Amino acid sequence: MSVPSNAGSIRIHRDIAAWFTRIVVQPLSRLLRRIVRRVFHRNPAAVAFWVAESPVVFAAMATLSELRVFDVLKNGPQAAGDLARRVRADEDALARLLRAVSAVGLLNRRRDGCYALNPVARQFCSDSPNPVGAWSELILQILPLLSRLPAAVRAGEPLMKHATGGTCWDYLATVPRGTELHDRAMNAWTEAVVDAIAKRCPLAQARTVVDVGGGRGALLAALLRSAPHLHGTVCDREHTREEALQRFQRQGVQDRATHTVGNFFEAVPAGADVYTLKHVLHDWDDDHVLQILRVIRRAIPPQGRLLIIEGAADHDLLPGASVRAVWDLTQWIATWGKERTLAEFQALLAAAGFRLDGVRVTPTYDALVIEAVPV
Ligand SMILES: C[S@@+](CC[C@H](N)C(=O)[O-])C[C@H]1O[C@@H](n2cnc3c(N)ncnc32)[C@H](O)[C@@H]1O
Repeated sequence: MSVPSNAGSIRIHRDIAAWFTRIVVQPLSRLLRRIVRRVFHRNPAAVAFWVAESPVVFAAMATLSELRVFDVLKNGPQAAGDLARRVRADEDALARLLRAVSAVGLLNRRRDGCYALNPVARQFCSDSPNPVGAWSELILQILPLLSRLPAAVRAGEPLMKHATGGTCWDYLATVPRGTELHDRAMNAWTEAVVDAIAKRCPLAQARTVVDVGGGRGALLAALLRSAPHLHGTVCDREHTREEALQRFQRQGVQDRATHTVGNFFEAVPAGADVYTLKHVLHDWDDDHVLQILRVIRRAIPPQGRLLIIEGAADHDLLPGASVRAVWDLTQWIATWGKERTLAEFQALLAAAGFRLDGVRVTPTYDALVIEAVPV
């Protein structure tokens, strides 16, 4: 892993994941990208057509997910008519969606005309560990805002702010199942990587941890499972409380885990040894990031440690590396935030009274553990 020259003081923990990423995954991913580009560039008109049509295909998949068509197909192949009856949709309309997504390989259409799951469609089932179904249903709700993107780009203001005047959290609260879909998808993605992340968090000396903006408690539960001496609390908004408490119970950490309803722009529980912020700062512009960091700075004891867990714009991890620019744009469209470089993190931390003290690589595509200490 390389470090920007202006971040010379950063302590790097080289590990097997980083080695594997550099020696195996990155070269393979580069090769794959080269092949894909070569194939695409042979037929630029077709590629351009698919780009222009991709919202239609996306909307069809998100709609089939919302109608629970993929879940019904888990019981076996079905004809469009039977499917329409099961999911209470119009047969002709549903058949058009099914034909279209099958034509581009996202679902199988058999010779007898029945539809069947294939490996891609299976990802959209509601019990898939990859929560793309919930995520695409959520994006479907945000799509109307995209018509304002040209105006937002002219104004130089994140789309969510430009189009609604509010944050994504305000907007999601107005959208049918918006908050639930976001939390479900975010939580499932977090759940898939927390054990790997927990192994990279320096907790041996810590007795208490606060996971700021910790959502439904997946990271905190993993941290407590990995360190049986540790107690902790999630500090997040009210709507995450019930699910978090249920998770702590399910995972047997209820005696050491609590949930504190709070606003991280105002206050977080004081005096913990470790504060974590996983995929929170990239939702916010620099002013709001500074507010969050200053609130934590007031709460953290002199020997405390802050762990920022998210990707850095200048650190490609697994093959998701090629996705980072798209991810950055997603933040700009759906939130007020951005993907930041390590140098940008370092500057914000310094302005809030912290020193960047180390960066640990995790075997995930989107999470470094960026360590900071109060100065
Ligand atoms: C992108 S999610 C990340 C959740 C969790 N850390 C994870 O990685 O799964 C951002 C979280 O910030 C929380 N949040 C947003 N605004 C907040 C505020 N003002 N105070 C406390 N939490 C807030 C949201 O409820 C949400 O759980």
